[in-house]
Amino acid sequence: MSEVIISPSILSANFAALGDEIRAIDAAGCDWVHLDVMDGHFVPNLTFGPPVIRALSALTQKPFDAHLMVTNPDRLLAAYAEAGCQLITVHAEVCDHLDRTLSQIRDLGCRAGVSLNPHCSPEVLRYVVDRVDLVLVMSVNPGFGGQSFLNSQVAKVRDIRALFGDREVIIEVDGGITPETAPLVVEAGANALVAGSAVFRGGPSEYQKNIQALRDAVAHCAG
Ligand code: DX5
Ligand code: ZN
Repeated sequence: MSEVIISPSILSANFAALGDEIRAIDAAGCDWVHLDVMDGHFVPNLTFGPPVIRALSALTQKPFDAHLMVTNPDRLLAAYAEAGCQLITVHAEVCDHLDRTLSQIRDLGCRAGVSLNPHCSPEVLRYVVDRVDLVLVMSVNPGFGGQSFLNSQVAKVRDIRALFGDREVIIEVDGGITPETAPLVVEAGANALVAGSAVFRGGPSEYQKNIQALRDAVAHCAG
């Protein structure tokens, strides 16, 4: 199968040295950088927004993969694009006008993503498939790193692949991804993996090995 994208979530990075952490995962061979934006409302936790992302985007050429866990994503889409995000993913659960929000993301020159919480059916995507570049399947309830993978989401990945048929789409899975769980979702049709704890564990000297362990785990998957 074609290469699976590895997108480390900096939620598990050392926030006291975020710039160094970005440089370290870049040097360790990540494909994208996953940015978990949390508003303390859609999810209980609170992280960072456009100013921090802008500062970090100056440090790497790797695409920035923004995951907006916020109640009102429409308000700041342009700010995320200007801050250097190439992919912007919103949660279907908070978008009253998902079709319009996805168009706006593309109009800003970014790739448009939709994320689905574990309870959320992919049926919500059926009539917007032509506006979607990426589907982000949450395999934990969003808000925190280091949670256990929910096996229930493997079937959802398969359903999304079937829903899109021959259309090109990136199916990214986020939460509890390790060398043990990664093959389950790649076999089901995922082609991008977010990993926080599995990449950042052990500190910078381990990042290359940790990323390679994920690549090796899915190298022989049918996909
Ligand atoms: C959870 C975030 C994830 C999280 C993944 O709300 O969306 O990106 O950081 O962390 P791990 O890989 O540790 O489950
Ligand atoms: Zn995420």
